Amino acid sequence: MKIRITINGAARSVDVDPPALLSDVLRTEYALTSVHVGCDTSSCGACTVLVDGAAVKACTILAVQADGSSITTIEGLSGNGSPTAVQEAFGAEHALQCGFCTAGMVMAVTALLDAIPAPSDDEIRHGLEGNLCRCTGYVNILRAVRRAAAARTGTVPAPVAGESLRIPLARSGETTIAAHGDDVEVV
Ligand code: FES
Ligand code: FES
Repeated sequence: MKIRITINGAARSVDVDPPALLSDVLRTEYALTSVHVGCDTSSCGACTVLVDGAAVKACTILAVQADGSSITTIEGLSGNGSPTAVQEAFGAEHALQCGFCTAGMVMAVTALLDAIPAPSDDEIRHGLEGNLCRCTGYVNILRAVRRAAAARTGTVPAPVAGESLRIPLARSGETTIAAHGDDVEVV
């Protein structure tokens, strides 16, 4: 069956078997190997891509269901070859180790921040509950999402209790703000 899809900005036409999963077509027909298949049962989120801007686990839909859609994988995320704020934040916050989950995480975070530009920690956790990471323990991923949200909105990430945050100042180096319960201390 022939389908027409846009992949990372390029119009494509491809013959697919009706039972073929979108994840398999992206990997085998277009060598988009960032679309990792970790479970094939919609559990891990490693195969997450954007379909018309929404985060979708590519192993959960048939390629024919994507007919007429615009699909973005991490290979086409930035558009200009430079990392996006989300990609930069994952590196800066050491939010990956083996990297198997990372492309799917970045795509899920991108969709999350497109929908909620300044999410709360609970909204971040809820937004990523379909993406599993067996390496990082999620804390640095949470920090990366906060950092990316701040970069995209031109703010600084809010400190949370028990953490401090160093902020570069234009004239006097750096200062540190720390949260103690509901109080914020400028050091
Ligand atoms: Fe798609 Fe795990 S491979 S959710
Ligand atoms: Fe290894 Fe997430 S970095 S699974």
